[in-house]
Amino acid sequence: MIDVNDTLAGLSLTEKAALLSGENTWQTRAIPAADVPRIWMADGPHGVRKQVGSADHLGINGSEPATCFPTAATIANSWDESLAEEIGAALGREASGQGVHVLLGPGLNIKRSPLGGRNFEYFSEDPELAGRLAAAYVRGIQSEGVAASPKHFAVNSQELRRMVSDSIIDERTLRELYLTAFEIVVRESAPWTVMSSYNLVNGAYAHENAHLLQRVLRDEWGFGGAVVSDWGGSNDAVAAVRAGGTIEMPSPGFDSAREIEAAVRSGDLDEADLDARVREVLTLVERVTARTVPAAVDVTAHRALARRAAAESAVLLRNENRVLPLAAGTRVALMGDFATTPRYQGAGSSLVNARDVSTLAQALGASTLDLVGTARGFRRDGVADAALVSEARRLAASADVVILAFGLPEIAESEGSDRGTLALPADQIALLNSVVAVHDRVVVVLSAGGVVEVPPLDGAAALVHGYLGGEAGAEGMVDVLTGVVEPGGRLAESMPLRLADTPTAGRFPSTARTAEYREALSVGYRWYDASGTPVAFPFGFGLGYTTFAYSDLRVQDGVVTVTVTNTGERAGSDVVQVYVGRSAPSRMPRPTRELKGFSKVRLEPGASTTVRVPLGDRAFRYFDADLDSWQVEGGEYEVSVGRHPGDPTLSATVHVEETTSGGAAADGSRETPTKATRALTDSEFATLLGHDVPASAWGNGSLGYNDPIDRISTSKSALVRLVFRILDRRRRKAEASGHPDLNILFMFNAPFRVLSKMSGGLATRRLTEAVLTVVNGQVVRGVGAVVSAYFRGRRLEKTSRERFRAASERPRTTRRSR
Ligand code: BGC
Repeated sequence: MIDVNDTLAGLSLTEKAALLSGENTWQTRAIPAADVPRIWMADGPHGVRKQVGSADHLGINGSEPATCFPTAATIANSWDESLAEEIGAALGREASGQGVHVLLGPGLNIKRSPLGGRNFEYFSEDPELAGRLAAAYVRGIQSEGVAASPKHFAVNSQELRRMVSDSIIDERTLRELYLTAFEIVVRESAPWTVMSSYNLVNGAYAHENAHLLQRVLRDEWGFGGAVVSDWGGSNDAVAAVRAGGTIEMPSPGFDSAREIEAAVRSGDLDEADLDARVREVLTLVERVTARTVPAAVDVTAHRALARRAAAESAVLLRNENRVLPLAAGTRVALMGDFATTPRYQGAGSSLVNARDVSTLAQALGASTLDLVGTARGFRRDGVADAALVSEARRLAASADVVILAFGLPEIAESEGSDRGTLALPADQIALLNSVVAVHDRVVVVLSAGGVVEVPPLDGAAALVHGYLGGEAGAEGMVDVLTGVVEPGGRLAESMPLRLADTPTAGRFPSTARTAEYREALSVGYRWYDASGTPVAFPFGFGLGYTTFAYSDLRVQDGVVTVTVTNTGERAGSDVVQVYVGRSAPSRMPRPTRELKGFSKVRLEPGASTTVRVPLGDRAFRYFDADLDSWQVEGGEYEVSVGRHPGDPTLSATVHVEETTSGGAAADGSRETPTKATRALTDSEFATLLGHDVPASAWGNGSLGYNDPIDRISTSKSALVRLVFRILDRRRRKAEASGHPDLNILFMFNAPFRVLSKMSGGLATRRLTEAVLTVVNGQVVRGVGAVVSAYFRGRRLEKTSRERFRAASERPRTTRRSR
């Protein structure tokens, strides 16, 4: 085991600078003579993706087999911290078993819009729920001696141009909504690393954002770990060191190390800042190498956990005439392409090489139900096929119940692109309409990592949303359909009636240089609730096969107690949700009610229990941007317990003391309209920001280092524009085939900078600048510069590599050996 201070004292400037970037796609650099080993990082959030062959950060090349658990969006519906911790521990064991030291997850960004392309990897639209579940994952992962890397810090809401997009957000919204989940994780589970996001936040790249990384993460929350850049997300290596960004991944060769070393030598970078970052790297290495014996993995137990997790996270949204659960022997007709070709995870860096994937057809066939037949029903690519519909309709006649396996196709949910619609493909709706015309016991089972518009599914008697259930999702779903497991899932996000009702409708994803968070706090239920916008199913909603009653609500000494009784005939689980809203008038706009606590409870029929939910110090606070601190507005608050924000089944009023002496909030200097709004005007937004709204348009001059590559469509050179058209044609062709071309998507969303940041040393910054000369129309000059920069870069890399090797093999005298 290394001694951090001792090791640090023995490192040369060259070594220190080199330790702050990766050696290759997944590993950090080693310094053998100082006993610093390289450590391995791997995705991810719902299963280990360790690549021992060709490496990529997009889930394109193969990886070692691993258990594919349900994705975060699924587990979020369980509202079950102990389940999340169990999964975390299983992920930690699999990582340790494969020699992975840092597991790149969980992902906990707030779902700003249901169109977010990676929503399937994130927990919720609510920070309390997202933060507490993510903290449970982290505790689990780290209990096995593996570092977790909660990501992506922060305000990374859209995939479109994710490496270029600048999130413009006011400080109060930033703190109350987008940072709170990370705050909970850091304070409650002490992660050893945090992954910074790709985007900029208020003008500074997340990996070099001193406000986020130093002021908030380290100074306020006491984070004592390493900040790892997202892959290719580092911009200016020196600025990162200064601001608190620790390690740059993957390897940029020695380009960044040279920049850091030169900055220290010239006095531009304080060596104390460099030492602080190196200490963070060494501390991480020390922590993750403390475990010397890899964990043993019980594959069967992990699969059983994946199955239980899927079942406990499924959300029963509708159950007319108690169609469900299905009794043993029920004759079932199963239809829909998803019955035989399941969707159980999303595409991109989180893609797990699952060990053992089951299908609904197999799982139903092995159950107590009588599967009378399966029919494909529709084509996954959306092409209408009348023959498939008639075949399915004929099959329906022979069954007591019809199960329709619906879902979103692969192309709809992938890292790298946002969704364009909330609608299910029309051919699935057509199949439903045709079947409900001949059968009245139709159950729709959904496989999707997010929400869909449900009014077109109104004809179904029952609706179960299984989200993306992982490799054992089909068995988990059958457990729910047959009642072996009570559907305990409650929505971790609102299901709007239509896209137009969402708070960012028409503005998401932003296609401009900036993404303006003009809806401020009006995200998810905070918007629907305050504006009175009806939804299909609210946040927190979910049915079971039994019923629960609440009584005796008490709020005393910061603890809510409520008696919960299972009033039905079956054992089951419920989630006690505690919301807090202001009952007295407020001097600032506020969400009507916010989730401030929850607890999962399991009860036998007829049984009662008293549930305690501590309110904690987040319950009444707001962030006062003028005072630049958390404050509590004194007065009366309503504490309610219900099944969703708008359902105060029971409520109590509490009086809370003021913490400020009025403060700047009272003088209204950052006042926003008190009516619910989802798009502040320019002047309202500027007032909230405390400065003018930054320019959002793309320049029409030359393209630069941090302009997105897809802007080559506007290049002065016809040749470069042709390159764009060829790539774009490939992108569209892949889309039409149903599977995204992740390489092209990544490239289009990325700035030119990635050429140097992700080429493992092949391209220096100088070479990228030369490429830009070509792109900007000076083809002949540019090509010459590219060639010369390439050879110069090779020479530089060789020299740096040799210098580093010599330095790192130099014998040293440590305190121990002295
Ligand atoms: C993703 C991260 C992931 C990393 C490594 C990036 O593209 O945004 O979530 O951990 O790749 O695969």
